[in-house]
Amino acid sequence: MSQPTIESILEEKRLFAPSQEFAQQAHIKSQQEYQDLYETARANPEQFWANLAEQELDWFEKWDQVLDWNPPFAKWFVGGKLNISYNCLDRHLTSWRKNKAALIWEGEPGDSRTYTYAQLHREVCLMANVLKQLGVEKGDRVGIYLPMIPEAAIAMLACARIGAAHSAVFGGFSAEALKTRLVDAEAKLVITADGGFRKDKVVSLKPEVDKALADNGAPTVENVLVVQRSEEKVHMEPGRDHWWHDLKAGVSADCPPEPMDSEDLLFILYTSGTTGKPKGVVHTTGGYNLYTHVTLKWAFDLKDTDVYWCTADVGWITGHSYIVYGPLSNGATTVMYEGAPRPSNPGCIWDVIEKYGVTIFYTAPTAIRSFIKMGEHHPNARDLSSLRILGTVGEPINPEAWMWYHRIIGQEKCPIVDTWWQTETGGFMITPLPGATSTKPGSATLPFPGIMADVVDLDGNPVQPNEGGYLVVTYPWPGMMRTVYGDPVRFRRTYWEHIAPKDGQYFYFAGDGARKDEDGYFWIMGRVDDVINVAGHRLGTMEVESALVSHPAVAEAAVVGRQNEVKGEEVCAFVTLEKDYEGHEELSNELKQHVANEIGAIACPGEVRFTDALPKTRSGKIMRRLLRNLASGEEIAGDTSTLEDRSVLDKLRGGS
Ligand code: PRX
Repeated sequence: MSQPTIESILEEKRLFAPSQEFAQQAHIKSQQEYQDLYETARANPEQFWANLAEQELDWFEKWDQVLDWNPPFAKWFVGGKLNISYNCLDRHLTSWRKNKAALIWEGEPGDSRTYTYAQLHREVCLMANVLKQLGVEKGDRVGIYLPMIPEAAIAMLACARIGAAHSAVFGGFSAEALKTRLVDAEAKLVITADGGFRKDKVVSLKPEVDKALADNGAPTVENVLVVQRSEEKVHMEPGRDHWWHDLKAGVSADCPPEPMDSEDLLFILYTSGTTGKPKGVVHTTGGYNLYTHVTLKWAFDLKDTDVYWCTADVGWITGHSYIVYGPLSNGATTVMYEGAPRPSNPGCIWDVIEKYGVTIFYTAPTAIRSFIKMGEHHPNARDLSSLRILGTVGEPINPEAWMWYHRIIGQEKCPIVDTWWQTETGGFMITPLPGATSTKPGSATLPFPGIMADVVDLDGNPVQPNEGGYLVVTYPWPGMMRTVYGDPVRFRRTYWEHIAPKDGQYFYFAGDGARKDEDGYFWIMGRVDDVINVAGHRLGTMEVESALVSHPAVAEAAVVGRQNEVKGEEVCAFVTLEKDYEGHEELSNELKQHVANEIGAIACPGEVRFTDALPKTRSGKIMRRLLRNLASGEEIAGDTSTLEDRSVLDKLRGGS
């Protein structure tokens, strides 16, 4: 199945309007209502967000100023005091929601747990008190390295409750990647588990933490809190490592929420960019709480009767915003699943939907493409009639996959909500509102009310309809990242200077190319920088290259993305070797494993090609464009006159 090309996108004319029946019951009921909201927000964004902040959240103290915009630094609801764990838990305990299912969890081996709001509140208070007992204080950072178990949500909320910032690291990342993130965040404590279940295997986590902390690898970490999940035998370092179930038994379940300033640090989440080490994206409390709450409520038309399931991992932004904070702030029932389709149970996704009567299902195009490959007999054999809305995120969805999702899973009755956003944006930016927006397969449609998005050229001028350009946001929004942790200069340079500010107008640009059609619909064309999107996960080419050259056999490495039928893109590595080494299959496998060890399995190259030299310009810059052509077996396109040594190309073509 192919990724959308510009030509195929320009030809895509299918339009799917919300049914009247759906629109009538929706929060936002018509295109007109959306346009009115958009217009109101555009005319006075501060008033728009302030009204929502008042209606939708509980504040201990009201703000003095809605927005303090000192470009590129924004502060929202300045002087306001709140606690996001209070908004996600406590405030639901005074209503019937007290005994409503807050979190339904299904483990891969078939075990399951359900927490009501009252029970989740109790668990969070217990963990918050354990953290305090281990010396964690307001303002400290806590690393979270957990599998998809309820304790991941509990840990995040417990940190937020006492005013400690969390920094989650995806459980698929290696010890090395974990270490760099713990060091950068100066984490005081790490919450982990012995292991988790993934595709019928136990994924070890605690041993990775041990490796990351070995030889004083992350010197600020004083304690490790370990959740028992897989029941593997793990080493427990005396004085440093503690079992959660042991400490939990000795603390009180009473833990009042810490009143937090609206702009207090809520979490750091690391993400890849073009250059250097991963960036710590900083999100703060009030704006993020409001933004995830409202975007989820409107874009997924969230109701009290919904059973909402997002399949992302809690270690990524989608898990933060739309498994934990957004749903719980709304008082919804959120489903969390530890497993993934696997040979022993290819239909597990559909079983979970049937078992819990899931009404809203949110996943990624790469998952949809793998469902297509596994065959429609799996979903067809289950009762999926509870579904009413389907969502997608992480990469552009090819219209073919969109149509399959619509026909087979949605039975042609569920609106498809294609949400474009990023770790940096905190929440949805461009998305249909399912009762209002007619959808087009492959388009994320229109900006959320309050989001001033556009497609511009390098000078910041809007481009013509259907012309490609840079996707930018021209006004601050409450969920935006505040800075790069510890590096405000990098924040400004990376996101706000790619397109230079002019006449006081600033442009937020985070790496995507796009076009707008004649109806104003946005079509995301993918990254325009050196970021590869593997199965919806962002990988910086430089990170993979650094991992490769850290192997003794490798002299130089250049990495590019190439199309992959299921993952969207995969890594293809070009490598030159140190003398005395020879390129053969065994070394290729060793290098793939080396990258997996250094970063994580997601970064593992699909192919390693050995070469005598890399194509470079006379000034020594690797010409990735040519490597991209070579990796995908295409003809070399464009100008090659700046190439220093043309014979390199001929050799590479020959597949040496
Ligand atoms: O390239 C865009 C792609 O994913 C990038 C953001 O990655 P990350 O920060 O890891 O967050 C992923 C989940 C929000 C974007 O720059 N992307 C995300 N959603 C879409 C998308 N591309 C096209 N359509 C989408 N719906």
